[in-house]
Amino acid sequence: MDDLDDLYQEIILSHNKRPRNEGELDPRDHEAEGYNPLCGDRLKVFVRGGADQIEAVQFSGEGCAISRASASIMTENVKNLGGAELEAKIAEVLEILTSKEEPDIDPFEIGELAALIGVRKFPARVKCATLAWHTLAAALNDKAEVSTEGGEKESTGSVG
Ligand code: FES
Repeated sequence: MDDLDDLYQEIILSHNKRPRNEGELDPRDHEAEGYNPLCGDRLKVFVRGGADQIEAVQFSGEGCAISRASASIMTENVKNLGGAELEAKIAEVLEILTSKEEPDIDPFEIGELAALIGVRKFPARVKCATLAWHTLAAALNDKAEVSTEGGEKESTGSVG
């Protein structure tokens, strides 16, 4: 394991241990529940504001360290974003996690989101990391529920 992998792991563990913005935001304008049928874990995302601008965002739920850390990192990265900037951020993260090619991204330019690059090495865990982001997109689209396994409930990550 090289130094970068150590750093990625440290970031994940830190966010899992002390999640940022955990709770059921109240008042809120949007919420959705994300479900990973592979493990049964569920995660809720709550948003004040909307796709034009996220004023506040929180999450709740039981899940593995990667899902909780990804949700925590998400809340810190999307607050105050809206419109094209928000869409681009969600698309960037889904690209980092799911693209077949190694993402052409400098890990030192994307802050703690870089920890998600480390998740690529564990393909079985990628859906743990995408869960929060798909759930955010579902909330902004007023879809009550989204699943990581596709079908009607699947989210594309689009918020428009
Ligand atoms: Fe369930 Fe990771 S094992 S979300």
